[in-house]
Amino acid sequence: GKVLVLHGPNLNLLGTREPEIYGCTTLSDINRMMAERAQAAGVAIDFFQSNHEGALVDAIQEARGRYDFIIFNAAAYTHYSIALRDAIAAVQIPVIEVHISNIHKREAFRHTSVLAPVVLGQICGLGTDSYMAALEAVIRKLAAKEE
Ligand code: DQA
Repeated sequence: GKVLVLHGPNLNLLGTREPEIYGCTTLSDINRMMAERAQAAGVAIDFFQSNHEGALVDAIQEARGRYDFIIFNAAAYTHYSIALRDAIAAVQIPVIEVHISNIHKREAFRHTSVLAPVVLGQICGLGTDSYMAALEAVIRKLAAKEE
């Protein structure tokens, strides 16, 4: 099985960006932890971060036929990118939406995810464990497919 992890805008600044909200873990720490877990489970994993909506649309389109799952933190685009929502709907790859913070207990504009109606599920509020929980679900689902 293969999984693609997509990180949206400003997530390259994790570690120094509003640490009271997002913690001190860097993006490369997150990617390293996920890579280690995936490797132990025999799952191939790739990572991509972009601050550009179109680059994320391209990455989703190019994932078609190449990946079994996408773990996606669309960051601020979560709340208004119809282009990303349409890309997810178009490729029909199951996407797990993740957020480090609990978007539902923050500003009102973060309560809505325009991606939520087209993803498999959403995990938020667990800090960097949101990513790890998503990966755990992917590992279990891939194992179930192989049975
Ligand atoms: C975020 C939540 C978004 O509202 C915000 O714009 C982000 C990060 C999170 O991981 O908690 O950039 O997706």
